[in-house]
Amino acid sequence: MSENIAVLGLGLMGTALAETLLAAGHRVTVWNRSSAKADALVAKGATRAATAAEAVAAAPLTIVCVLDYEAARAVLDGADLAGRTVLNLTNGRPAEARATGEWVNGRGGDYLDGGIMAVPYMIGRPGALILYSGPRDVFDRHEATLKPLAEPRHLGEDPGLAPLYDLALLTGMYGQIAGFLEAAALIAAEGRPVREFTETLLVPWLHAMASAQPRWAEDMERGDYATEVSNLEVNRVGLGNLVIAFEEQGVKPDLLLPMKEIVERRVARGHGAEGLPGLIEELR
Ligand SMILES: NC(=O)c1ccc[n+]([C@@H]2O[C@H](COP(=O)([O-])OP(=O)(O)OC[C@H]3O[C@@H](n4cnc5c(N)ncnc54)[C@H](OP(=O)(O)O)[C@@H]3O)[C@@H](O)[C@H]2O)c1
Repeated sequence: MSENIAVLGLGLMGTALAETLLAAGHRVTVWNRSSAKADALVAKGATRAATAAEAVAAAPLTIVCVLDYEAARAVLDGADLAGRTVLNLTNGRPAEARATGEWVNGRGGDYLDGGIMAVPYMIGRPGALILYSGPRDVFDRHEATLKPLAEPRHLGEDPGLAPLYDLALLTGMYGQIAGFLEAAALIAAEGRPVREFTETLLVPWLHAMASAQPRWAEDMERGDYATEVSNLEVNRVGLGNLVIAFEEQGVKPDLLLPMKEIVERRVARGHGAEGLPGLIEELR
């Protein structure tokens, strides 16, 4: 069914969202601070609003996707939110989402937060995921409309949950990229082919290692860090060797050093017999 949706913020991501909603047959009203970014969308059938307030007034559902939450609030500030749903797909922090939810509710509007686990070209294609949080009934009301954007996953009523899980997924990604960069630097420093190493060895190895992590997560939930695989004392020696090897090969181990330090700290506290999941105790 064709719905009326306002999209505020037509950067790379906002434009991809608006285009996908248009392609799905929805009526889309668009607004951007610099209005020229709406031109291509208007040519494809979107309606240009002169102000953000005008766009909000045109549709029961407003999607906001701007640089940060400060900009999102500034954009929504003059609009009448009573009886409207605001879906904020701007990237932010749990505390910002909770505060913005209260702020929208205080103006009579419903609030959903969202975390986009995709880059713009993936929007509307298989593999794209959007995490949502906020009142279940509000999500249910808009789920079908939002489905063309990406696979929707509602995490719970607390609006802070989507940014929490978004940040956790990005954290996992950055950790993996850190390992990739160090491994690639080690291989490249010897003049070995990085692409072949990555494709044939590193990626399969990372998949195999990642498959153990649900079991580690169970250990964390139980607080039981006994291991029959590889204890922290062995890892302390292994990471020490790694760092010396990096120095011998003329490669900086900078992204590995925090891991080495935390393992050393945990072992120094007398937990050398535990497995790697026990390191979570040093972080929380
Ligand atoms: N790109 C991605 O791969 C990706 C993936 C996931 C999530 N996100 C999130 O999506 C959001 C938008 O990202 P993007 O890639 O679309 O960024 P972008 O291309 O740099 O666009 C930024 C948008 O924010 C607007 N903006 C910035 N400051 C503003 C202000 N003070 N008042 C009003 N509008 C303001 C810009 O308006 P002007 O055009 O007038 O400057 C533009 O529409 C970010 O929170 C980002 O983290 C992006």
